[in-house]
Amino acid sequence: MTTTHTHHPANDAVEAAPRFAWTITGSGHGLAGSLDLAATLLPHVDLFLSRAAEEVLPLYKIDIAQLKARFRVFRDNSASAVPVGMLYDANRYHTVVVAPATSNTVAKCAFGISDTLPTSMFAQAGKLGIPGIVFACDTQPVVVTKSPLDWVELRPRRIELDNVERLKRIDHCRVVCSLAELRAALDARSAETRMTSCASA
Ligand SMILES: Cc1cc2nc3c(=O)[nH]c(=O)nc-3n(C[C@H](O)[C@H](O)[C@H](O)COP(=O)(O)O)c2cc1C
Repeated sequence: MTTTHTHHPANDAVEAAPRFAWTITGSGHGLAGSLDLAATLLPHVDLFLSRAAEEVLPLYKIDIAQLKARFRVFRDNSASAVPVGMLYDANRYHTVVVAPATSNTVAKCAFGISDTLPTSMFAQAGKLGIPGIVFACDTQPVVVTKSPLDWVELRPRRIELDNVERLKRIDHCRVVCSLAELRAALDARSAETRMTSCASA
């Protein structure tokens, strides 16, 4: 499998409880903020990187070895997205997050394409009725973003904006367009899962 495990001395109850599967794509925009939010969910979250994410993270001075010290990290190095199999275990993951989502990943998710770890996690989760939350970055006429060297101004094309609209119509998917919206969606989902676990206790 594609795992890169670092041992976390989490107790059995935490290990057994369903968690967030948080996928990261190769988007510089929203990258640091998304990781900060993911960290607030620890230890109830695991990370799944696209191949582009693995390249882009170090360009933004985010050390993957340090991520592995905090999170359980799954890498995208199989053709069939092997870690997706963990979604079939009903008690493993209650939500798939894609944050930040590149316009590439948004387009694939919107059209049902699943050929990377994040897009496969998203698509299989949807087919299992597991909710997905996608932080789409190209949602405004002008996006000011930080390249590894400097700030740049991007103007998403009609195709990128249309794909976001299309993604909003995908089953079991919630699209958020800012870190504040992402925070609110995570809080809402955490509250829902707490209610479900109380009801089934
Ligand atoms: C430094 C850097 C920053 C990037 N930032 C973005 C971004 O903010 N948004 C985006 O859509 N693509 C961005 N890209 C391009 C994606 O990484 C590229 O389209 C890649 O194929 C996406 O693959 P993925 O969607 O499977 O992660 C960036 C690439 C680099 C090298």
